[in-house]
Amino acid sequence: MSRFFLTTPIYYVNDVPHIGTAYTTLAADILARFHRARGEEVLFSTGTDEHATKVLRAAEARGMNVREFVDGMAGRFQEAWRELGVDDHVFIRTSEARHIAAGQEFFRRLQERGDIYQGEYEGWYCVGCETFFAAEEAPEKEGVRPCPNEPQHKPLELVRETNYFFALSRYGDRLLEWIDANPGCLLPEFRKNEVVSFIKQGLRDVCITRSAVGWGIPVPDDDSQVIYVWFDALINYITVAGFPNDAESMDAWWPASLHLVGKDIYVRFHCTLWPAMLMAAGLKPPRCVFGHGFWMNEGTKMSKSLGNFIEPLKLAEWLETVSGSTRPIARDAVRYFLFREMPFGEDGNFSRSSLVQRFNGDLANDLGNGLNRALNMVRQNFVREGAPDGETPPPSEAEVRLKALAPEIHARVTASLEAIDLQGALTAIWDYVAALNGYIGERAPWVLARQGKRDELAGVLRHALEGARVLTVWLSPVMPVASQEMRAQLGLSSTPTWEEALQWDALQTGAPLGSPVPIFPRIDRKRLEEGNRIMSGETPQSVAPAAPAPTPAPPAPTAEAPQQTEGIATIGIDDFAKVELRVAVVLSAERVPKADKLLHLKVSLGDEERTVLAGLAEYYQPETLVGRRVVMVANLAPRKLRGLISQGMLLAAEADGKVSLLQPDTELPAGARIR
Ligand code: MSP
Repeated sequence: MSRFFLTTPIYYVNDVPHIGTAYTTLAADILARFHRARGEEVLFSTGTDEHATKVLRAAEARGMNVREFVDGMAGRFQEAWRELGVDDHVFIRTSEARHIAAGQEFFRRLQERGDIYQGEYEGWYCVGCETFFAAEEAPEKEGVRPCPNEPQHKPLELVRETNYFFALSRYGDRLLEWIDANPGCLLPEFRKNEVVSFIKQGLRDVCITRSAVGWGIPVPDDDSQVIYVWFDALINYITVAGFPNDAESMDAWWPASLHLVGKDIYVRFHCTLWPAMLMAAGLKPPRCVFGHGFWMNEGTKMSKSLGNFIEPLKLAEWLETVSGSTRPIARDAVRYFLFREMPFGEDGNFSRSSLVQRFNGDLANDLGNGLNRALNMVRQNFVREGAPDGETPPPSEAEVRLKALAPEIHARVTASLEAIDLQGALTAIWDYVAALNGYIGERAPWVLARQGKRDELAGVLRHALEGARVLTVWLSPVMPVASQEMRAQLGLSSTPTWEEALQWDALQTGAPLGSPVPIFPRIDRKRLEEGNRIMSGETPQSVAPAAPAPTPAPPAPTAEAPQQTEGIATIGIDDFAKVELRVAVVLSAERVPKADKLLHLKVSLGDEERTVLAGLAEYYQPETLVGRRVVMVANLAPRKLRGLISQGMLLAAEADGKVSLLQPDTELPAGARIR
């Protein structure tokens, strides 16, 4: 069986868990679940870094004994990860005896090999990022030396001590050779280039002990010194793998398959110091180090001093309150949001309004609707004794597109997860969500039911349910609870294997289905306001309304006011506000018999479906419109055309005989108001 060992950084315990630390841990959990679902043996480790000077100072500032303090804080991290659904993992603490033994043995080995020596150290230390800087790396400004990495940290402190040094400078060439010989060992590619140029600038030996700190792993045979916190912390990865006493376990698990870290600790520590330390100890460097981007809070960097860290459990509690969903579902939604919203390697901006939009659009609407609609139709049409919510209908003629798309999407999701592109995986999954909704809209089972075409209806619903089942497999690493709930509604109880997504017709004909309860209830404006009131103990955050806000006052006329178009009267903002413009998603499109210009469309406005007759037949093939987001006038009086009632109008631009439908340039939810 193949093995996969992945790690997160071990987090400093001077801070409580926040969405930054949750981000890395949840990404690792998603990947661990993915590798487990593929049948691999997975070792997943996370933990706490407890020997930092800032941890000691945080305990002192609270008047607490440092041991009691770190025990309490490590507990907070363990609880947060449990609550956020982080599955089976090893939690390593640097204050554990097994790690202290590993740290000392590692130090001894490097001493024996001649890579550690004693010397005089004079330099500048940043307690905030626990990093030493040479004077020229951190120039003086207005009488103090600000931290070159994080200027908001406390000014650097001068350190003059006799210390031990690690001969990092000897490893520059070997590091470059390793990077060159192992494409893919440093990801994403653009960060690898930063590492290469950092190493090429020349590496200095690093001071790896501190005297008079009194909190840390004692240097072997010299307890006047403790091991520098970074040197100590990096070793945690091999402690977990079994170093130094369990050679069998080390053989099985080392080198680690993947170290996931944030970009802050990527270049200097995980891609330079750590592989060099391993080389010095005669151990292999990791197979891959991935450096992801950073979350900002509503445009501002999150930091302890600004007090704007977002705590993931509080955020999930807020979402639970405003959505009226269960707590585990709210937590799943937070997991989804964090990886859908920003590309994994890049930085992004957190805002509650985007979370609400993703919840309503992607989850309540797109994901929730397909399964819910199909199950409700089954309940209306295929009920029997012993299956009050309906039974899985028998298969009918293959619905080629939907079925054939599943293996294609499976390959995309798998490749994205292998490449640690979490957003790419979610985008591929949502392409299938859109295809499934498009399929249901196109095959219109409600029409088949009305027409009494029972066999065809069974086939359509059967395929819709199969499509939803396949989705539960891909969703299981990211939203394990929602995936289980969807499976329960589909009458399935097992946790899926990854390969299950490649089966079609896996649902058992006649098996009872569960009750079709919407898994992600839509967050409406009233709930949002109530929820915010309830949670108002928290820092107020800007929240986008889910329903129209009051119409803004008309702007004062200005000299630059646009010229009136000839023949069209100027209107006031009040006139414009009378037009209700909304984003609509095309569910189905077909030609109207004996009408060359007309297309008969069914569109979704989120909560309701409308019929629209549009004069687009000369410009668009009907099938190319299914699944598109368009702009619709939603309050136009209904009009009868060719025996059908048109309940709205789509907006299109026209020039030089060409017609182009307007569409929003991001995936806004169906029904979103346009102003
Ligand atoms: N203790 C060291 C790591 C030692 S690993 C051998 C440390 N700890 S930390 O608590 O500061 O955690 C830093 C890590 O937390 C980042 O590398 C990243 O994984 C995560 N994040 C912290 N803030 C973050 C954001 N704002 N956004 C995304 N991830 C962030 O450094």
